[in-house]
Amino acid sequence: IERTLSIIKPDATRRNLTGKINAKFEDAGLRIVAQKRIQLSLQQAQQFYAVHSARPFFGELTEFMASGPVVVQVLEGEGAVLKNREVMGATNPKDAAPGTVRAEFAESVGENSVHGSDAPETAAQEIAFFFSGIELVG
Ligand code: GTP
Ligand code: MG
Repeated sequence: IERTLSIIKPDATRRNLTGKINAKFEDAGLRIVAQKRIQLSLQQAQQFYAVHSARPFFGELTEFMASGPVVVQVLEGEGAVLKNREVMGATNPKDAAPGTVRAEFAESVGENSVHGSDAPETAAQEIAFFFSGIELVG
């Protein structure tokens, strides 16, 4: 059974949307097998998003991710990586399908409420970035 890393971003925790977003994950059949609310330092945000370091929005992205609490979580289910990305919707909320997290809650392409791993391999790396084995309770 597959696992993926999800982050509820600062724009969403600020607006008290953690529960509503988690309900969408659970309604889609994803199980939250680990979860914690943390505040990333700028350095930690830069490390997590290192693959995007050459992109023009890297500074904006990492400053935003360090601007308030985030909820990092591991979601488990059949095809969890893809299923989570379906529930999230397109990166830009203007392109996100109705009913998705980003269509309902995202404020802009930058402040888009959630992150989800893009493949099983990156999911494994991203889960290990935030969680140790004993924190994952399937
Ligand atoms: P993630 O699940 O967060 O990785 O989103 P994604 O896979 O849909 O998008 P991508 O990996 O291409 O970009 C990573 C993140 O960078 C996005 O979720 C946005 O928060 C941010 N981002 C992407 N494009 C822009 C942009 O044009 N401006 C800003 N400020 N942020 C952007
Ligand atoms: Mg991505």
